[in-house]
Amino acid sequence: MERVDYDVAILDLSDDSDEAVARRRGWIGAVLRGFRDPRPDDELVTRWVDHYRTDRVICRGAWLPEGEFGAGPMPVATYASLDKTLNAGHELLPLRMVTDVTTSATHRRRGLLTRLIEDDLADAVAAGVPVAALTASEATIYGRWGFGPATFNQTMELDASPGFALRSFTDPGRVELLEPAEAWPHVKRVFDTFHTQQRGSVEWPAPYEDIHTGAYDFNDRSPNAKIRAAVHLGGDGSVDGFVLFTPGENGSTKVAEMVALTPAAQLALWSFLADTDHVKTVTFNLAHPTTRSSGRWPTSAGSRSRASRTSCGSGSSTSSAPSPPDPGAPTTTSSWASTTRRATRPGPSRSRPRTGGPAWPAPTEPPSWCSPRRRWARSTSAGSP
Ligand SMILES: CC(C)(COP(=O)(O)OP(=O)(O)OC[C@H]1O[C@@H](n2cnc3c(N)ncnc32)[C@H](O)[C@@H]1OP(=O)(O)O)[C@@H](O)C(=O)NCCC(=O)NCCS
Repeated sequence: MERVDYDVAILDLSDDSDEAVARRRGWIGAVLRGFRDPRPDDELVTRWVDHYRTDRVICRGAWLPEGEFGAGPMPVATYASLDKTLNAGHELLPLRMVTDVTTSATHRRRGLLTRLIEDDLADAVAAGVPVAALTASEATIYGRWGFGPATFNQTMELDASPGFALRSFTDPGRVELLEPAEAWPHVKRVFDTFHTQQRGSVEWPAPYEDIHTGAYDFNDRSPNAKIRAAVHLGGDGSVDGFVLFTPGENGSTKVAEMVALTPAAQLALWSFLADTDHVKTVTFNLAHPTTRSSGRWPTSAGSRSRASRTSCGSGSSTSSAPSPPDPGAPTTTSSWASTTRRATRPGPSRSRPRTGGPAWPAPTEPPSWCSPRRRWARSTSAGSP
């Protein structure tokens, strides 16, 4: 195979020269191409760049050298990362979040991902960032760099048709429907509180505001007119939980995100979802397998909910990986990472990937930081880095 001297570089997102703008659009186009998605339009590029500037995302890429056949602003490999925090139980740890991993179909298996990820993980080590995380659709690749499974998610479907009932409970507060944009400050505050309390929680990156307010849907590339928001007010009148959901066909309701800081808030939100007129099923693709959000606990008949547990990884887990939260802890849907890596060694591990193990699942649902951007709205625990 002909050897190519790739131009490996980091995008300067603050540079608005024509050349830099073309390169950044090419980079986004390459990410979308890598995930078999349509080319970006202007609005997608604008939002993408705004978010990446806000989150100080480092966008790495490999371009064909100038003059080479096929060279241009579009790279042949992409890789991005940003630093947020991970609740590791004892404390919030800096977390290197990895996303937008693609190599052009015509340049695969030439070590481009290896080059980009090793540069980035070395940078994380140098910066004192102890853990890296990504969501993986091709998960077998990442064990060689020390990644292991970090969390699990559970898809559950609640049968809310006639006959459904919750165990009796008295809500000390109430649930209120708000427009998603109006709910956002409450949603964010509840999540931020949750994030400081819940082991395994990963901080939300900037695009969540667009996603959760319905301002922009990265799948449809337009505002999301379907998303609804409800918040729970505790007995003291403060918001202590929220649910973001989409009413669908045939009485179905799909929960995109739900966080409750207290058991009463969780129960009240489930009750609200299931007891709404015309609702026959409530599906939630990010229920945590070991917590109250599994929905089994509140139902009067255990048979009214079906849950399928999804492993988000295989292979060895890392000691700093998020683990199932304590049964008494608040519940959520929001852990982002499916694989983590402790970036404590100066260089990457070269261990062979596990083979023959269970495949890591493709993304099914809600918010994730994986790429392409639409997958942020698909999966927090199984997606594509
Ligand atoms: C996954 C992807 C980024 C790999 O990029 P790449 O530049 O070809 O990777 P590299 O050449 O650096 O390969 C790194 C190692 O992973 C292995 N590898 C690469 N792709 C693999 C795959 N799909 N399955 C199993 N192993 C794979 C390589 O053999 C190599 O192993 P080695 O170090 O033992 O030689 C690329 O195939 C791709 O863009 N896929 C589609 C987009 C995607 O799914 N991205 C997210 C992946 S979670």
